Amino acid sequence: MPTISFSPIHTHKLLMAESTSLSVTLFLLLITISASFAAPLPTSQSVYDIFLRCLTQQTKSPTQLNNIVFSQTNPSFSSVLQNYIRNSRLNRTSTLKPLIIVTPLQESHVQGAVICAKSIGIQIKIRSGGHDYEGLSYISDKPFILLDLFNLKRVSVDIQKQTAVIQTGATLGEVYYRIWEKSKVHGFPAGVCSTVGVGGHISGAGYGNMLRKHGLSVDNVIDAQIVDVKGRLLDRKSMGEDLFWAIRGGGASFGFVLSYTIKLVPVPETVTVFRVMKTLEENATDLVVEWQKVAPTTNDGLFMRLLLQPGAKTIRASVVALFLGKADEVVSLMGKEFPTLGLKKEDCNETSWIGSVIWWNDEDAFNKGAKPETLLDRKLNSAVFGKRKSDYVQKPISRDGLEGIWKKMIELENVGFVFNPYGGKMAQIKSDATPFPHRAGNLFKMQYSVSWDDPSEPAAQNFLTQAKKLYAYMTPFVSQNPRSAYLPYRDLDIGINQFGANSFEEGQVYGTKYFNNNFDRLVKIKAAVDPENFFRNEQSIPVKV
Ligand SMILES: Cc1cc2nc3c(=O)[nH]c(=O)nc-3n(C[C@H](O)[C@H](O)[C@H](O)COP(=O)(O)OP(=O)(O)OC[C@H]3O[C@@H](n4cnc5c(N)ncnc54)[C@H](O)[C@@H]3O)c2cc1C
Ligand SMILES: *[C@@H]1O[C@H](CO)[C@@H](O)[C@H](O)[C@H]1NC(C)=O
Ligand SMILES: *[C@@H]1O[C@H](CO)[C@@H](O)[C@H](O)[C@H]1NC(C)=O
Ligand SMILES: *[C@@H]1O[C@H](CO)[C@@H](O)[C@H](O)[C@H]1NC(C)=O
Repeated sequence: MPTISFSPIHTHKLLMAESTSLSVTLFLLLITISASFAAPLPTSQSVYDIFLRCLTQQTKSPTQLNNIVFSQTNPSFSSVLQNYIRNSRLNRTSTLKPLIIVTPLQESHVQGAVICAKSIGIQIKIRSGGHDYEGLSYISDKPFILLDLFNLKRVSVDIQKQTAVIQTGATLGEVYYRIWEKSKVHGFPAGVCSTVGVGGHISGAGYGNMLRKHGLSVDNVIDAQIVDVKGRLLDRKSMGEDLFWAIRGGGASFGFVLSYTIKLVPVPETVTVFRVMKTLEENATDLVVEWQKVAPTTNDGLFMRLLLQPGAKTIRASVVALFLGKADEVVSLMGKEFPTLGLKKEDCNETSWIGSVIWWNDEDAFNKGAKPETLLDRKLNSAVFGKRKSDYVQKPISRDGLEGIWKKMIELENVGFVFNPYGGKMAQIKSDATPFPHRAGNLFKMQYSVSWDDPSEPAAQNFLTQAKKLYAYMTPFVSQNPRSAYLPYRDLDIGINQFGANSFEEGQVYGTKYFNNNFDRLVKIKAAVDPENFFRNEQSIPVKV
């Protein structure tokens, strides 16, 4: 494992003398860019030249950096941009493209990119896995540079210490695979989709099917390496506990995270997965009534996700589960606690923990005998059109309530739900332990989910409107004041800070939904570490002015 130096690297004096004239040049260039979309290429080429020169000086690089700094005219530019676009809705030809894409190979490239982007006054956005549901990691309506971390994907597992250092450009599938290579009885609690990136996932909280036993990803982070607004490389000790708190769930407002050090968790040699589906005719309503009581209170080792999908005249309710133990045990437990589920041993697959990861990622692949290597597939440039929203439920929804919801879902036709039960470890962790506030008192989180493959604009409008209508309908059943939301299920409908406008009032609207009472502390930390709001996006933590 390569050793990582944590000593802060100070801003090089070199650029300072030059930066004033650079800023003036760039300011003029940017005016040209925004005034004349007809001829953006020559100017973006000039921005490229200036940026490349700066980066070469900053990194004291003896070799050419052209192969990691892409101008819009570079033949690879489009494929580099599209590889990690994970939502086709945000893949329009009319969307403003980054002026430059930088694909760092080492820490100093990230430090240099921060310093150079700041000195020439251009916004910089960072992308790890590209799964942001609103594409905030790679689109913007103002000129920007894209820092794409896909090369920084080292995962170093230390079984003796039961820890791993994971670079943020790694995918969750790569993290799980590298742990499995070293141990069959260790795992990590994080998301179920193998191509999700560590950077956006853990900086936003990160949950998966072990959250009732082991909490969120951020509950198992013990150190991190970041590049701050001055281009310094900091670890937990040098950044201090406030900033370390903020980057465990507070989003992309505080610095660029290069790696997280995580604590592995023990997993049994044999675990059990199952899926049971019922329609309304098969008493799905009873199932959901009972699920609300059982799923958030049962054995911490059992996670039962509930999927609700509208059909022509019915609703399909599927319970999709991971149990950290054997099939006999969960069948007998469910017989006592959840009789309407009717779980039988034949519904269950006993497998290893990594087998359960493959199953959750892709059941078909699992049934065809997929190997753990399947988790390393990054599935470049593949996406569908989609929209997600979230809500929290704090008191069970009555049978009448559910029946009304089914009617609405069937009428709208296309929007489904994913209910993720909390309780267990989630309820034991204090709501201010990390920026993620949705702990005790929340029975489950719901995700609204709609995906489509018709590329037309009217189709998109239709599906987006359906999602909004269902969200409006759900108001009486979900958390209020604030109506809470889960940051990694990014949703611009709940509020937006006009890019760069830095309005505290606008930021407070979405900020209190994502962070509840933790929002104020995030604002204070933001003011201390990034008072000029360099690390910003449409839903970042505002600076109070
Ligand atoms: C198919 C799918 C399945 C999902 N499943 C789950 C799940 O099971 N559990 C769950 O909790 N969430 C899940 N999510 C949501 C997911 O956690 C978020 O979309 C997450 O933000 C994605 O991280 P990313 O690195 O892939 O995304 P990106 O789009 O690269 O980044 C998301 C945000 O984080 C910022 N960011 C990225 N990297 C860094 C970095 N290194 N430092 C600072 N900021 C950074 C970006 O600028 C952007 O604002 C899922 C999403 C999808 C599309
Ligand atoms: C994005 O659009 C281009 C065409 O403009 C297409 O080639 C590519 O496959 C699309 N990618 C995604 C992820 O939608
Ligand atoms: C649904 O519930 C009713 C009433 O409890 C019961 O009689 C019926 O057998 C159930 N149907 C199915 C398919 O389980
Ligand atoms: C998993 O269980 C299902 C249902 O019993 C069965 O059809 C399938 O073959 C099992 N798959 C594996 C890989 O064991």
